[in-house]
Amino acid sequence: MKLKDLFLKTRSCRRYDESFHIGEETLESLIDLARLAASGGNRQPLKYLLYNAKEECEKIFPYLAWAGYFKEWQGPVKGERPSGYIIILGDKSVTDTFGVDHGIAAQSIMLGATEAGLGGCIIASIKRDELCEELKIPDRYEVLFVIALGKPVEKVIIDEIKDNDVKYWRDEQGNHHVPKRSLKDLILRL
Ligand SMILES: Cc1cc2nc3c(=O)[nH]c(=O)nc-3n(C[C@H](O)[C@H](O)[C@H](O)COP(=O)(O)O)c2cc1C
Repeated sequence: MKLKDLFLKTRSCRRYDESFHIGEETLESLIDLARLAASGGNRQPLKYLLYNAKEECEKIFPYLAWAGYFKEWQGPVKGERPSGYIIILGDKSVTDTFGVDHGIAAQSIMLGATEAGLGGCIIASIKRDELCEELKIPDRYEVLFVIALGKPVEKVIIDEIKDNDVKYWRDEQGNHHVPKRSLKDLILRL
């Protein structure tokens, strides 16, 4: 896939075919991409937890908030929930500030997921304390992002932004629309 096509296809996906199983080696291959990403001061303070078992996924799901603009939607229904998760942790024994390392790592994982035929969603809205307790994550680690992964069942369409409205929306067919600012709005010529 051409790089631009990979970027176009790498959308946040929130509805999946839950019966699909993601292999451990697929999750590991995504971390192998994140491992190569840029890191402030080359400190590489990120660690990763990988989950692909149904019972593990069921444990994680309640602590995540989905699509903040969809006030009526409680997130994917049973059968459309993620088949796997990657939790990005900051290792506080390496440094106590993680800069933008986890953003770069998350996008690397998302791009790799698309290439592997998966869809994902970076989730920052997390009940962190409860999740750490549930998964017995030691204090040494800070939960930075959870990345939900699965086989997509929703279509995501990029729209041109109108009236400066950044809110994504869903049409009657269930397609998810995501408005993106135009190139001419982003590049400043001072
Ligand atoms: C730092 C960050 C945090 C995000 N947190 C959440 C979240 O908590 N829940 C969610 O459903 N989506 C979350 N998203 C996904 C965004 O809503 C999504 O990137 C945005 O709507 C644009 O859609 P796109 O990724 O398809 O371009 C997050 C994305 C980023 C980059």
